[in-house]
Amino acid sequence: MSVSTYISAEKIQARVEEIARIIDMDYNGEEVVVIGVLNGSFMFVADLIRAMETPVFLDFIAVSSYEGTESTGELKMLKDVKVNVEGKHVLLVEDIVDTGLTISKLKTLMEGRSPKSLKLASLLHKPARTEHKVDIDYLGFEIEDKFVIGYGLDFNGLYRELPYIGEYSAS
Ligand code: IMP
Repeated sequence: MSVSTYISAEKIQARVEEIARIIDMDYNGEEVVVIGVLNGSFMFVADLIRAMETPVFLDFIAVSSYEGTESTGELKMLKDVKVNVEGKHVLLVEDIVDTGLTISKLKTLMEGRSPKSLKLASLLHKPARTEHKVDIDYLGFEIEDKFVIGYGLDFNGLYRELPYIGEYSAS
């Protein structure tokens, strides 16, 4: 197996700063409940909220839809948020929108809890794989149909600690 750099750590950090500035302008000083989708978003959330000036209430949700490199097509709730989001601004933060299954189900779930507003930030998006169309309000990078790892993203639990996005290939 081999890993090659696909998006460098510097490029990621520069983009995170840009997104944080746009988020700050949009929320205009109002508090936002940031919900990181575990496990993959932990690094992006950590960098994003540190770059933001908007007041943040942080929580996490954990769901699972993947085994190996293929989607199982089902979503399992592993850990729900503790916060009551009713009447609050909510920003869901994902690592990657692939088929869109995970985030479309999560958005529907959160909408049912009557937030004041609901937005989505995702570091990566693979448009070629879309099966469930979702609007991404804050997107880091659009990528090709490749399996990527690092900066929170894993292959069977490994490589999340890499500070860059790498392309994984079995050869
Ligand atoms: P979706 O439900 O198909 O959009 O998949 C979303 C989830 O699948 C992400 O939150 C990731 O955990 C995982 N995933 C999708 N593509 C990749 C990839 O290229 N590398 C690592 N994980 C991925």
